[in-house]
Amino acid sequence: MSRNIVIFDTTLRDGEQSPGASMNLAEKLEVAQALVDLKVDVIEAGFPIASPGDFEAVQAIARSVKGAAVCGLARCNDKDIDRAAEAVKDADDPRIHVFLATSAIHREFKLKMDKDEIIRRAVAGVERAKGYTSNIEFSPEDAARTESDFLCKVVEAAITAGATTVNIPDTVGYATPTHMGGVIRDLVNRVPNIDKAVISVHCHNDLGLAVANSLAAVENGAGQIECTINGIGERAGNCSLEEITMALKTRSDYYGHTTRVDTTRLVPTSRLVSSVTGLEVQRNKAIVGRNAFAHESGIHQDGMLKNPTTYEIMRPEDVGFHKTDLVMGKHSGRAALADRARALGYHLEGEKLQEVFDAFKKLADKKKEVYDSDIAALIDKRVSSA
Ligand code: KIV
Ligand code: ZN
Repeated sequence: MSRNIVIFDTTLRDGEQSPGASMNLAEKLEVAQALVDLKVDVIEAGFPIASPGDFEAVQAIARSVKGAAVCGLARCNDKDIDRAAEAVKDADDPRIHVFLATSAIHREFKLKMDKDEIIRRAVAGVERAKGYTSNIEFSPEDAARTESDFLCKVVEAAITAGATTVNIPDTVGYATPTHMGGVIRDLVNRVPNIDKAVISVHCHNDLGLAVANSLAAVENGAGQIECTINGIGERAGNCSLEEITMALKTRSDYYGHTTRVDTTRLVPTSRLVSSVTGLEVQRNKAIVGRNAFAHESGIHQDGMLKNPTTYEIMRPEDVGFHKTDLVMGKHSGRAALADRARALGYHLEGEKLQEVFDAFKKLADKKKEVYDSDIAALIDKRVSSA
């Protein structure tokens, strides 16, 4: 049955937990607006208890964003939940996301709690959050390594307490597609009130399987996918938003599902996130990498000229690689360059703008016409060497 899959973006929360990525308030607001333009359904804006700066950012995003739910993360304790509720309360559609680990390893070594205590705390957390908003997400952290019987019990209790989304994280990226599909299938078959909540999936990429695992979850009944721009996140990152949305779109013949995402915004959003975090996008990264649509071999180029579908399963313009008539040259000024860069999804100001402008002038002296791809290359080089 065809469904609309909810896209929950956690670039500003899990993504910001990437080693080396941190964003200031203005940058977070810019990314949040780009996510709205991309038409994600939910923006996880941060973890409000983590720091005053995180609280301020979640609150500012909740106040400014229109057109997506704004979510704040909280552990299952009163202080976290109250702080998250305060941060998101001015959003049009505020969501509180409470989480508590459930796997034996986390119960024994991290939480030192038994199973009954975990269920009691999960229920108390969801009930407290419910006092603030009707849009509640509950995550049993490390769900993919949790015993199936216990996971079913926790999920059932969280839904009874009022969770409207139950998110199943593969916190350490341990699952494989068959495993993850089975976890979701078990919940669908064994939790009696599962139809009262949306099942979500949150996959980490430690084995490079986050996108494949998320697709397997969708095949088995998940209705929400948690993901990040460029797949950034803890350690090896999270499920990449651009890959999962293009997989669902390109293979709609197989999955039959849709998302609201405007895929023509993928490349500009990817570039924006890369430039504000300083995390370079690898050249051969699927969908948004500079080589994603580049054809080098003669045989491929020949086929492409005869008919692009010989070697391309997606059109570059469908993901936001634009061919443009606007050519820049040695007479173009700094403002025009900043403007062009913005249209390409880059955020350039101050010293960074000056540095790229100097390099642009040198290039324009050698090359009569400077194209978008030249400008992107100049900026990428500077972002990666920053
Ligand atoms: O990876 C994880 O388990 C998380 C939770 C907070 C959902 O990020
Ligand atoms: Zn995570």
